[in-house]
Amino acid sequence: MTDVTGSGSDVPPMQVLWPLPASGSRIEPDEPVQQLAELYAYPDSGCWVRANMVATLDGAAAGQDGRTGSINAVGSSADRVVFHLLRGLADVILVGAGTVRAEHYRPPKPYPALAGQRELLEQSPAPVLAVVTRSGDVPDELVPGGDDAPDGRVLVVTAESAGSAVLNRLHDRFGATNVLVAGAERVDLTVAVDALSDMGLDRMLCEGGPSVLGELVAGGELDELCLTWSPVVTSGFEPRILSGLPVNERFDLRHLLHSDGTLIGRWVRS
Ligand SMILES: NC(=O)c1ccc[n+]([C@@H]2O[C@H](COP(=O)([O-])OP(=O)(O)OC[C@H]3O[C@@H](n4cnc5c(N)ncnc54)[C@H](OP(=O)(O)O)[C@@H]3O)[C@@H](O)[C@H]2O)c1
Repeated sequence: MTDVTGSGSDVPPMQVLWPLPASGSRIEPDEPVQQLAELYAYPDSGCWVRANMVATLDGAAAGQDGRTGSINAVGSSADRVVFHLLRGLADVILVGAGTVRAEHYRPPKPYPALAGQRELLEQSPAPVLAVVTRSGDVPDELVPGGDDAPDGRVLVVTAESAGSAVLNRLHDRFGATNVLVAGAERVDLTVAVDALSDMGLDRMLCEGGPSVLGELVAGGELDELCLTWSPVVTSGFEPRILSGLPVNERFDLRHLLHSDGTLIGRWVRS
């Protein structure tokens, strides 16, 4: 097995369970990234909002330590491969500040295995990270370092209600052009998606958390859900992958992969 992602993740044996049998029944080990990139290709044009989440068999979106790593320990390498691949395909990663703080986010790294494809599509080497926050509490680890590191640009998406003191501080830390105001009291995710699309960032990947994803779905903005079922049950009181206003949206299965007990699916809004 080879580390194709540059992230320390080997590609484990994976089978395609659905659809059968046109795409073959397994991810070919000699070119897994290309095959997975085709399975997860964004539409050729237009704005497309995909989310990528993981849940336990009993629906928990985090472990009792408040992080996803602890629910994803079993069979996790296939999920890590897909996690990094989806980042490698995206123009922008949209994420809530709660997830950034809980999961200790860093600026996104380039994805070597798709560097050629990104160049052809005129994408930056690494995706942009767009952090949704009202409080402005964005960790220092995401403030640009000022060196020549090819890490992804970091945008902060906030609301007018953040107030001038918070906005001024975000401008000082991230640069005024990297701070978007997209809503009055809270960030309006529809306005945020439009603003990112206007910047040419049409291939969107939402990495949660449940609050941001719930608002995206409630606003009718989510086109696609990629979901990993980790083969564990955990009970407890952790959130599901969406929280917030009730919604009832139908999604159609596009593919289902299996690796070592972990199921990795892709659903597109009907
Ligand atoms: N299972 C998975 O795949 C997955 C994925 C991601 C996260 N998680 C887990 O989910 C948990 C975090 O959940 P969460 O719901 O707190 O995460 P979240 O949605 O990432 O963050 C919530 C925070 O985002 C900001 N926010 C969200 N919507 C906003 C809006 N409309 N306007 C302005 N700010 C907005 C606020 O930040 P401020 O407080 O800064 O104002 C809010 O406190 C963690 O345990 C994490 O590990 C699981």
